[in-house]
Amino acid sequence: MRVLTGIQASGKLHIGNYFGAMKPMIARQEENELFTFIANYHSLTTSKDADTLKQYTLDAAIDYLSIGIDPEKTTFWIQSDVPEVLELYWILSKFTPMGLLERAHSYKDKVAKGISANHALFSYPVLMAADILMLDTEIVPVGKDQIQHVEMTRDIATKFNNEYGEIFTLPEHSVEAEVATIPGIDGQKMSKSYGNTIDLFMEEKALQKRCNKIISSSTPLGEAIEWEEDNVFALASLFLDKRGKLELQARYMSGKEGYGHFKKYLKELIWEELAEAREKREYYLSHQDEVHDILAMGAKKAQTIAQKKMTKVKEAIGL
Ligand code: ADP
Ligand code: TRP
Repeated sequence: MRVLTGIQASGKLHIGNYFGAMKPMIARQEENELFTFIANYHSLTTSKDADTLKQYTLDAAIDYLSIGIDPEKTTFWIQSDVPEVLELYWILSKFTPMGLLERAHSYKDKVAKGISANHALFSYPVLMAADILMLDTEIVPVGKDQIQHVEMTRDIATKFNNEYGEIFTLPEHSVEAEVATIPGIDGQKMSKSYGNTIDLFMEEKALQKRCNKIISSSTPLGEAIEWEEDNVFALASLFLDKRGKLELQARYMSGKEGYGHFKKYLKELIWEELAEAREKREYYLSHQDEVHDILAMGAKKAQTIAQKKMTKVKEAIGL
């Protein structure tokens, strides 16, 4: 199966991103033909300045490589390095009814949040359709908020195919099964916008400090702690198998340990989980040429497919 994921680079990655999006994606590369790109044309719709966009793009590439994108298995590139996608975007615009775009939730949500309503933001789903259709994508793993965009892609492709023949593959969305919402240090959904994240790549001391800030109740030492409602428990259990969870429950109920112990334990779990990623990240940070080479190799591969597709598309429509 050909699977495509697009990553919006918008700053530091956190534990919520890691379990909700990154880990499941990495797992997919074992069985599928995975294509992954950093969606910097899309990020332009919310970008503040050139340096930040550039930095976020490179940071995301390094972070994703560090947590396990294998460039031997996965085609990994930066969206703007395959500019054919913009050509397709224009062509697909002709097959995109205004009403379809006007119904997009994501656009309305973004405008409601104060992002300026411009044409790029409005036509964002058409560019996403071009990303997907350009590569004959079969599966698009997405969060719930992006399902509508994949449905719009199918609508656009169907309209094109009806008029000009079976040029585009109709993609299916896939929502990761039961990745529960991961709580932040205040118990709400972990999100950059709530300032409640635990970031993936922190210094060890800062990580412990952050874990210490997790809001918990104040059961005195010597009493059993209710693990069911506890944020530290919820976060720690992400790293544990069934047996590990049972053991941690027993420790909560024994009354012999307090929140301080469990916060230390959580920090150790996070630190250990990311040991290999940290090492790789150090490596890539000091070998950025290699990162650029990997991205260039991915762009070349994606571009070869894209150019073939564009030849067919243009032939079909008379360009
Ligand atoms: P943020 O809310 O911090 O801005 P993003 O919207 O950039 O995060 O999230 C990117 C992806 O990471 C999402 O599509 C989602 O799959 C995953 N993700 C983010 N936060 C969480 C969370 N708290 N729980 C589970 N998954 C999450
Ligand atoms: N819109 C997606 C998001 O915000 C990112 C994205 C751009 C994407 N193009 C894509 C995702 C193509 C999947 C396929 O998360």
